[in-house]
Amino acid sequence: MVLGWGVLAPLAVLIARFFKVLPRQDWPRELDSTVWWRSHWMGQSAVFVLSIVGLALVLPSQWDNMSLHNWMGYAVFAGVILQVGLGLFRGSKGGPTAPAADGTLRGHHYDMTPWRKMFEALHKTLGYGLLLLAAVTILLGLWKANGPVWMWISLVTWWTLLIATFFVLQRRGMAVDTYQAIWGDDPSHPGNRLPAPGWGVRRLREKEEGASDVRSDRGDRLSSH
Ligand code: HEM
Ligand code: HEM
Repeated sequence: MVLGWGVLAPLAVLIARFFKVLPRQDWPRELDSTVWWRSHWMGQSAVFVLSIVGLALVLPSQWDNMSLHNWMGYAVFAGVILQVGLGLFRGSKGGPTAPAADGTLRGHHYDMTPWRKMFEALHKTLGYGLLLLAAVTILLGLWKANGPVWMWISLVTWWTLLIATFFVLQRRGMAVDTYQAIWGDDPSHPGNRLPAPGWGVRRLREKEEGASDVRSDRGDRLSSH
């Protein structure tokens, strides 16, 4: 559980948020880097497997004597099943590189259908909520099992580092919209005519209109395309 939820899950979220366009990638000439995608789904699948292993290690359950940690642990477990399920049923991609069977560009993501919008909103909200729930569950677990001091110190250091990195990368404007990371900023793509989805997600044309707060070199470089 420590390896899965304490180490891997928050890292796989951070990569999904900030590395959809890589630091040295020549965006928008080079599009659709799959680094974030592979890191995210493989990382979160590993978290899922580790959760099953972790649970198997503490079973059998004493249902008549459930502590707060146990309840929260099962809630995290339900959450990860939901997240993996949402990920699997996020809908089709579409667009020039993954056209539909009938040869058109149609796809849930390319067209930003209501299903795709629902997926993004729900998956993100649940995902961040789940990280918070897991953090408290881990603290309770460590307390309950009288976890070793090195584990407390390593986890607190790791999460402090992750949170600090989150704010730095957010300020640098690296939370690029998935849609633009995949298909660029050409307004002929239907999704580019919609507002940016989600909090703090960057749309390039917003910057050009002077509405973005991007201040870094990288942000400036991106906006010059
Ligand atoms: C997000 C991370 C975690 C999740 C999802 C989780 C999940 C669970 C669940 C569902 C149970 C109840 C199993 C049962 O019904 O018997 C449980 C029990 C337990 N957990 Fe965790 N856990 C997490 C983190 C930890 C950590 C970090 C530790 C300690 C290092 C820990 C130690 C324990 C112990 C010792 C039990 C057995 C408690 C008992 O039988 O009364 N857990 N955990
Ligand atoms: C293996 C199954 C999973 C798949 C296929 C998957 C797929 C995705 C996809 C496609 C996105 C990008 C959404 C977008 O911005 O367009 C995403 C983002 C995200 N995922 Fe997952 N995911 C999976 C598991 C998880 C799990 C278990 C968590 C739980 C912590 C999680 C948390 C997140 C979060 C918080 C984001 C949003 C990051 C951001 O942009 O701020 N995912 N996921």
